[in-house]
Formats: sequence, C-alpha cells, structure tokens
Amino acid sequence: MLFRIVLVVRVLSSLAIAASQELNFNFTYSGFRSTNLSLDGLAELTSNGLLRLTNETKQRTGHAFYPNPVTFKNSINSTALTFSTTFVFAIIPEYATLGGHGIAFVIAPTRGLPGALPSQYLGLFNETNNGNQTNHVVAVELDTIYSSEFNDINDNHVGIDINGLESARSAPAGYYSQLNGKPTNLTLISGHPMQVWMEYDGKQKQMNVTIAPIDVDKPSRPLLTLSLDLSPILNSSMYIGFSSSTGSVFTSHYVLGWSFKMNGLAEALDISRLPKLPRVGPKKTSKFLTIGLPVLCLSLVLVAVSSISYAIRRTRKFAEVLEDWELDYGPHRFKYKDLYTATKGFRDEELLGSGGFGRVYKGVLPTSKIQIAVKRVSHESRQGMREFVAEIVSIGRLRHRNLVPLLGYCRRRGELLLVYDYMPNGSLDKYLYDQPTVALNWSQRFRVIKGVASGLLYLHEEWEQVVIHRDVKASNVLLDGELNGRLGDFGLARLYDHGTDPQTTHVVGTLGYLAPEHARTGKATTSTDVFAFGAFMLEVASGRRPIQPTEDIILVDWVFIRWLEGEILEARDPNLGTEYIAEEMELVLKLGLMCSHSEPAARPNMRQVVQFLEGDVPLPDILPLCLSASGLTFSHREGFDDFANSYPSSMDKAFAHSSSVAESLLSGGR
Ligand SMILES: Nc1ncnc2c1ncn2[C@@H]1O[C@H](COP(=O)(O)OP(=O)(O)O)[C@@H](O)[C@H]1O
Ligand SMILES: *[C@@H]1O[C@H](CO)[C@@H](O)[C@H](O)[C@H]1NC(C)=O
Ligand SMILES: *[C@@H]1O[C@H](CO)[C@@H](O)[C@H](O)[C@H]1NC(C)=O
Ligand SMILES: *[C@@H]1O[C@H](CO)[C@@H](O)[C@H](O)[C@H]1NC(C)=O
Ligand SMILES: *[C@@H]1O[C@H](CO)[C@@H](O)[C@H](O)[C@H]1NC(C)=O
Ligand SMILES: *[C@@H]1O[C@H](CO)[C@@H](O)[C@H](O)[C@H]1NC(C)=O
Ligand SMILES: *[C@@H]1O[C@H](CO)[C@@H](O)[C@H](O)[C@H]1NC(C)=O
Ligand SMILES: *[C@@H]1O[C@H](CO)[C@@H](O)[C@H](O)[C@H]1NC(C)=O
Ligand SMILES: *[C@@H]1O[C@H](CO)[C@@H](O)[C@H](O)[C@H]1NC(C)=O
Ligand SMILES: *[C@@H]1O[C@H](CO)[C@@H](O)[C@H](O)[C@H]1NC(C)=O
Repeated sequence: MLFRIVLVVRVLSSLAIAASQELNFNFTYSGFRSTNLSLDGLAELTSNGLLRLTNETKQRTGHAFYPNPVTFKNSINSTALTFSTTFVFAIIPEYATLGGHGIAFVIAPTRGLPGALPSQYLGLFNETNNGNQTNHVVAVELDTIYSSEFNDINDNHVGIDINGLESARSAPAGYYSQLNGKPTNLTLISGHPMQVWMEYDGKQKQMNVTIAPIDVDKPSRPLLTLSLDLSPILNSSMYIGFSSSTGSVFTSHYVLGWSFKMNGLAEALDISRLPKLPRVGPKKTSKFLTIGLPVLCLSLVLVAVSSISYAIRRTRKFAEVLEDWELDYGPHRFKYKDLYTATKGFRDEELLGSGGFGRVYKGVLPTSKIQIAVKRVSHESRQGMREFVAEIVSIGRLRHRNLVPLLGYCRRRGELLLVYDYMPNGSLDKYLYDQPTVALNWSQRFRVIKGVASGLLYLHEEWEQVVIHRDVKASNVLLDGELNGRLGDFGLARLYDHGTDPQTTHVVGTLGYLAPEHARTGKATTSTDVFAFGAFMLEVASGRRPIQPTEDIILVDWVFIRWLEGEILEARDPNLGTEYIAEEMELVLKLGLMCSHSEPAARPNMRQVVQFLEGDVPLPDILPLCLSASGLTFSHREGFDDFANSYPSSMDKAFAHSSSVAESLLSGGR
C-alpha cells in the first residue's frame, strides 16, 4: 500500500516536472564548449567551442542535434506549439566565390537523419524519401549551390523546406534594412558570421525567417513568411539540430551560438560571448602562409638590411680619423658632417677652384652661417701628420690682416680638410694675366704688394716662431672684401716637406718662384721666400707670369734687360696705361730684381723689403751691371729654358711628387 502511494506520488511529480519543462523549454548556447550535443558525420566541436559541421572532406554530411527530444505538441491530435530559435553561423569556403553546399536548421522525428545524402541533399533527405509526406521534417536551409532539380532560385538563398528540398518559400539571402526598409544582399559564403531567426506562431499558424549580419540588429521585417499549420508535419516529440553537407568543394560550416525556446521568443545571443572563428579561412590561411608570410618576412629582412647598410654607409660617409693627441685641438677640429652640409656635399657647383694641393669648395657653416672655403688635401701617409696638424693648429692661431685666417681642420682617411675664411674676391692672379675682366689699378696693386710683404714679414719675424711660407705667388694671394691682399696656403708645403731624407729630396714650390739654392739643396729658408716674393712683385707690376713657356721668356731676365736698356718702366703692365706712379713702379721693379738675386746673401730680408716699400728707407742706388756681375739671372737661365721648352704651358708647377722636375732643374742648372 505504502509502496503504491510512493509510486503514484513519484509518477505524478515526474509528470508535473515534465509538463513544466515542456512548457518553458529553452536553452541558450553562446558557443558549445561545455554542451552535450549529439554529433555525427564530420561534425565536431572545436577546442574553442565552435560547432564545426563539416571540415575539408568532400561529399560528406555532418549533423549536430540537441540530445533530447523536444515536445512540439501536447498530444497527437493537438496543434503544434509556438516556438522560436535563433543561431549564428558562418560558411568558410576554399574559394571565395565557390562553396558548398550549405547549412540547415532542422526539426526531425529522428536524431541524426540516417540514410540522408550529402551535397545538394544537405544531409536532410535522400532521393527516395525527398518530398515524402511521411518524413515529418521541417527545415530552414541556407543553400549555397544552385540545384535545378529542386527548383532553387539561385546559389545563395534562404528557404523553408517542408519534408523535401523543394522549398515552400525561398528568397535570395539578404535582409530589409531597419533604416530605410531597402533589401540588402548577403553572401552566405562570405566567411562572415550571420544570424538567423525563426519564429513559429502556433495560433496564427505562421512562420517567419529572418537573416542579418551579426553587427546588425534583428530586422523587423522578416525575409520569409510562410503561413502553414505545422501540426500535421510535426510529431509531438521531435529532435532539433543542424545538418550540413559538402560536395566537391572543401567548405567549413560553423555554428557559433544557438538558442531555442518553446512557447516564446528565444533568448537573444550575446554576440560578444561567441567563440571566435579561425582568423582567416582555410584557403586564405594557406595563401597567407604560402605568399603573405614569406613576403612579409622578406620585406622585413629587406628593411632591416637596407636600414643597416644605410647606417653603415652613413657612418662611413661621415667617418673621420680622430686620435687622442688631437683632442687638445678640440676647437680647431671640425666635424666632417658639418663641412659636408656646409658645402652641400662637396657639390661641383660649390667648387671655387683646384690648386696643387687639392680642390677648394665654398661653404656656409650650418650653425654660425660663416662663409668658409674648404680645401681638401689628399694625404696618404700618417707619418708626420701629428707634427703637421700641430703646426696647422698653431698656424691657426696666426692672426694678421694680410693672412687668410685658418679656422681649423678635419681629418679623414687619406684626406685632410682645411677650413679657411672665405675670400669673396678670389685669388690675385685672376686680375693680372690673360686680359682680366676686372684689372686692378696701380694703387690697388701697390697696396696688395705692401700688404703681402707685411704678411710675410709677420710670418718670418713677428710671430713666436719662424714660419716659412714656401709657396708665395700671385695665385696664393687672395683678395678679401676690401681688396686687401692676404697670403693663403702658408705652411701647407710643409706637409710634403716633412722628414725627407737627403737622398729623396722633394722640392716644393712653383717653378719661376723657386730660388736656385732651394732647387739645389731642397731646403726652404726665409731667403727662398724672399726670392719668391721678388718674382711676385715683378709679376704684379708687369702683369706677366714669372715664366711664359710659350714665349720662352723668363720674367726676371726680361725686366733686367729693360733695366739694362735704361727703360725699366717699359716692363710695367701695359694694361695700366699711364695710370701709375713712376717712382713706385720703379721701386717695385728694382726691388723685385734685388729679391730675385741668385745669391741668397745678396737678397734683402722681409723687414728691409717692407721698409723700402713703405719709403722708410730709400732703395740703395745699385747699378744693373753690379747685379749682373754677381750673377743675378743668367746662372739659372739654361735650366729654365730647357724646362720651358719641354713642358706645355699648363704645366707651370713643380710639386713634391714630380721630383724629376727638381732633378732636371738641378742638372740643367749646373
Ligand atoms: N679662402 C678662400 N676664399 C676664396 N677662394 C679661395 C680660398 N682659397 C682658395 N680659393 C680659390 O681656390 C682656388 C684654388 O686654391 P689653391 O688650392 O690655394 O690654389 P693654388 O694651389 O694654385 O694656390 C684659388 O685659385 C682661389 O680662387
Ligand atoms: C528556461 O528554462 C528554465 C528551466 O529549464 C526556466 O527556469 C527558465 O525560466 C526558462 N527561461 C525562460 C526565459 O523561459
Ligand atoms: C549527453 O547526452 C547523452 C544523451 O542524452 C547522455 O547519455 C550523456 O550522459 C550526456 N552527457 C553529458 C555530459 O551530459
Ligand atoms: C574531417 O573529419 C573527419 C571526421 O571527424 C575526420 O576523419 C577527417 O580526418 C577530418 N578531415 C580533416 C581534413 O580535418
Ligand atoms: C485523433 O484524431 C483521430 C481522427 O481525427 C481520431 O481517430 C483519434 O482517436 C484521435 N486521437 C486522440 C488521442 O485524440
Ligand atoms: C510521427 O507521426 C505520424 C502520425 O502523425 C506517425 O505515423 C509517425 O510514425 C510518427 N513518427 C515518429 C518517428 O514517431
Ligand atoms: C532514405 O532515407 C530513409 C529515412 O532516413 C531510409 O529509411 C532509407 O533507407 C534511405 N534510402 C536510401 C536509398 O538510402
Ligand atoms: C513515401 O514513403 C513511403 C514509405 O516510407 C512509401 O510507401 C511511399 O510510396 C512514399 N511516397 C512517395 C510519393 O514516394
Ligand atoms: C541582390 O541580389 C539579387 C538576386 O541575386 C539581385 O537581383 C540584386 O540585383 C542584388 N541587389 C544588389 C543591390 O546587389
Ligand atoms: C511575422 O512577421 C510579420 C511581419 O513583421 C508579423 O506581422 C508577424 O507577427 C510575424 N509572425 C511571427 C510568428 O513572428
């Protein structure tokens, strides 16, 4: 008795529970990670909770069903109940434009649809049962292949299928925009997740199907509406789930989330909680891996290589040689980079000229905006460099209004850069020979001669140590803005004159300015500078080069002959016309000859030269014949003649590297 009561109570209570379950039956899956679905065929749950109905295997089906039956009718003869469902799916095909075959939400009497076919049958039916009333199947198909046998409208449509694949209602995939009500097309195989809503009203006996991208709210106007009583089709106990199939194209069909409810509206899916799709479709992934990744790596490598090589090139380009001992010369040392920018990269447009020691470029220092002239001297040996730089720097401290100020230097491999003040009027020789466009008048010339003389005196006597210029000549006299003559290049000859042993005597200087004993011994003295200054004075007064190889004329001889003839003023520059002061002209020419005396002892020193020029001391009344008797000129004549005849006119310089010139001078001179 007690046993019976207990049994009845249990049965009653279990019935009550069953009834309430059926009435409120609902579920919501945001991803399927911990859910209990019934899978068959290719269907599987991925580790991140995606329901993957098919993988890349062809001609197969995949099913996923809610494991328990759902009550759609209270009894066999009663009407089907109201229900609704919504789910998010994505179809990722191998090729962007071709997929197959689609997904269907299905309500079926059995779990798993045994005997159903893949491809166009979507895993729902087979050719024998397709369309048969006895199937009791309701489905919403998302069909991506056009199958004419089922009267498909296209290859991208949504349809409501009752017992067969020929849809009772279908429409191209799309939705009616909430804003303007206009239809918007969707591509089912786009790979983008989309949401489907299906509602059935058991009283109105009407079914609505809506589809939209997941970032769009549910459109109020459904895509499909079917007025049909599902009561004869649905059995009281049915299974719900998804079916999918592949054809001859690899396609992955995914369901990301799903909710269902009897007698009401299915709970909305929280899109943000859905599992993420594989980042790119299988095909795109492989494309990315096979093309994108190597290209990316290659371009990264290229970028790295080019930026490294750029950095290396840049460091090389601006590399300097800096040794410890140079640190003392800090303020005199320029950065190569600054000189590079100052001269606009040593452009040809900035080239002022090229002389025996190298090319000279004009520039403007980047920070101070001071105009400079940069002389690039190529210098291979490091030997003697330290002494030379020490001298250059000490020379840099020389300040005289008739010297070109040396601002500093910079050292690179095989190259020395000397930075001078820029002299806007260039070198004096331009104003003297070869029909100059602008000629200097006599007072300007006399001022330049006196200026250069005082500059040279400063070098010889007035500074703390004796500085021998070694290369006094018109092209080394530069004119500043006020046409003051300023000696440039002082001390530079020393670079080639250092530590030379007597066996390989290098003679530095310019032919025609070179004192005979200098050529003979290779030794520069203040007297050799005086000799060169004499040639310079004759040059400025006569407007002729010290040696004119084409005319076979040596200037000293030529002036001397004019003097012998008692016509010394005839040696003056014809360009001057009558615009000159005879006394000054005579003084300069005679003093020039005196300084050009072949005997060093017979030459005046620079202090005397300055005194004569300033008129403080009158020129001694020497006779031309006295000078001649002591061998003023002809002692070196033959040598110069030989040279003048054997070298073209452009070759008027004898430099360190051409010791053969010195040798020919020596042998010829004896
Ligand atoms: N400080 C400077 N300012 C302006 N021009 C200069 C300066 N130094 C040199 N120059 C120009 O560069 C040319 C070559 O100079 P340089 O090498 O000294 O010639 P050289 O060896 O024949 O004396 C000169 O003729 C002159 O026109
Ligand atoms: C869903 O079903 C459960 C019982 O399984 C019920 O407690 C809950 O209220 C239902 N939710 C909705 C929204 O109907
Ligand atoms: C899943 O459902 C099946 C069928 O209803 C059942 O046998 C199984 O125990 C369930 N598993 C879990 C983990 O709920
Ligand atoms: C697809 O799924 C089936 C069944 O789970 C499996 O046998 C097959 O190896 C899978 N193929 C691929 C390419 O993942
Ligand atoms: C259902 O209806 C059929 C005829 O319409 C009837 O024969 C049958 O007895 C009914 N069954 C129930 C359980 O009401
Ligand atoms: C579904 O119901 C029909 C009658 O409505 C019946 O003939 C059929 O056997 C039922 N199917 C299942 C699987 O219960
Ligand atoms: C077709 O499907 C039905 C029901 O799923 C099954 O009974 C039948 O054997 C299938 N026919 C073929 C030819 O597979
Ligand atoms: C429907 O299927 C049943 C058995 O499943 C069969 O007897 C009947 O002939 C089929 N009807 C059609 C129209 O194919
Ligand atoms: C939308 O698709 C339909 C059918 O494929 C087509 O006729 C229509 O032109 C498309 N509309 C737009 C805006 O692409
Ligand atoms: C279907 O959509 C129409 C139009 O929006 C609406 O009037 C009707 O109530 C809907 N039916 C269901 C079952 O939601």
